Amino acid sequence: MDSIYADKMPALEETLQDMLGRINSIREQLNDEYGMDPIEHLLSRIKSEESMREKCIREGLPLNEHSALAVIHDAIGIRIVCAFLNDIYIIRDHIASFKDIEIIREKDYIRNAKPNGYRSYHMIVKTASGFFIELQLRTISMDTWAALEHHIRYKKVIDTNSSLIADELKRCADELASTDISMQSIRNLIMESMQK
Ligand code: GTP
Ligand code: MG
Repeated sequence: MDSIYADKMPALEETLQDMLGRINSIREQLNDEYGMDPIEHLLSRIKSEESMREKCIREGLPLNEHSALAVIHDAIGIRIVCAFLNDIYIIRDHIASFKDIEIIREKDYIRNAKPNGYRSYHMIVKTASGFFIELQLRTISMDTWAALEHHIRYKKVIDTNSSLIADELKRCADELASTDISMQSIRNLIMESMQK
């Protein structure tokens, strides 16, 4: 079977590596500025052939390169997990400042959480090479919650307690969000005391 990415795989890899290089420069710069690595961990992937085909079918799109690379925007995905809330917005601003990268769409699911409690900052950007990248920026807490929610969603055995589970998950998300704010405040106090 031909690749849904046609002959673009090497170019996709190159685009991903270029963006990872830029993110690592931001990381080093912020580390020098604040004396602390703003990124807890960084994940990236090119969406597998199989997942991309599934997504095209789900969205009623023909199985071709145009659907995969021009209509769907997450063939390249990067997840940036930060220890602290403010770092998300600082990194976002650095990414937005790249002159050769166009921001196609941003969704602030931190200030506007999804009804289920999901929080993250999403960006779709377009690179000079013409490819789209989906960036997800979140804290460790948000990442933990999303992993659990994802896990539960794909277990199809929850017909019985589903509304109780949804309520409890939402409550956890809100508690974690409040803890993120407290952790940020503690960090601010530490930074302040170090400057004296
Ligand atoms: P697609 O879902 O990618 O077609 O686009 P969209 O416009 O719906 O994007 P959205 O920003 O809602 O979600 C994109 C990605 O964010 C998803 O593929 C997930 O990785 C993540 N995401 C969004 N909502 C949730 C959620 O409720 N729970 C979890 N665990 N992840 C989510
Ligand atoms: Mg979605």
